[in-house]
Amino acid sequence: MSANEKAGHTFLASLGKTRLRPGGVEATEWLIEKAQLTPNSQVLEIACNMATTSIELAQRFGCHIHAIDMDQHALSQARARVKEQGLEENIQIMEANALKLPFPDNSFDVVINEAMLTMYADKAKAKLVSEYFRVLKPGGCLLTHDIMHLQPLAAPSHDQLQNVVKSNVSPMTREAWQQLFHAAGFNAVATQNGAMSLMSPPGLIRDEGFLRALKIVFNGLRTRDNRRRFLGMFRYFRAHRHQLNYIACCSQK
Ligand SMILES: C[S@@+](CC[C@H](N)C(=O)[O-])C[C@H]1O[C@@H](n2cnc3c(N)ncnc32)[C@H](O)[C@@H]1O
Repeated sequence: MSANEKAGHTFLASLGKTRLRPGGVEATEWLIEKAQLTPNSQVLEIACNMATTSIELAQRFGCHIHAIDMDQHALSQARARVKEQGLEENIQIMEANALKLPFPDNSFDVVINEAMLTMYADKAKAKLVSEYFRVLKPGGCLLTHDIMHLQPLAAPSHDQLQNVVKSNVSPMTREAWQQLFHAAGFNAVATQNGAMSLMSPPGLIRDEGFLRALKIVFNGLRTRDNRRRFLGMFRYFRAHRHQLNYIACCSQK
């Protein structure tokens, strides 16, 4: 598959990026703080990709994590990374679809889902969130991390976003995100937003470290195909930096 055909996150992962999410570590740290994890916490990570977040949670809190995704290539990377870190007892990697989670009702204290809901149309978002609600224990929390509109995107800019990222990306306003979680039955919904770090130079360095950020940029500019794609994404997010933010939400069941 050429660089131009891959989904945005798959393209960035192929360059060496490990955090494939709009707000990077800033948003993930806010979510982790909200979760108040302990070694007894039962966690489900949905859309784990290469298991960057699951590995961090297991190392920092010693909790037990089921990590699922639908991408077999990403899952084999996840398994290799979990093994390399000696975390097979803490993290179970599984292939599963978030729309039909293979877990009973009320199974988890925390469900974390970064950079996935934004990729779905609004009806599918509602279906996914009600499935997350089902598997959470009462009092448990859902941690999500997505893209938010600060100002509405004009139709051409919205189409351009879908074209740049090569997926059905559908950001929403803060109010619409909050409404999505309330409508599924969640009680309190706390939110935080900020500048997107996905493609910005300081964001890349903060999320990946200086050397890895350098390697990602080098790989992104190395071939003509990569360069066209990488610069296309970079320019789009730079041009729309005043309209798009990340949003992190902590919703309590
Ligand atoms: C943008 S990536 C985010 C990966 C990771 N959460 C992160 O923040 O770095 C989106 C991920 O969602 C996964 N995904 C999309 N739809 C899914 C579904 N219905 N069930 C499970 N995983 C899904 C993709 O395979 C991909 O790994």
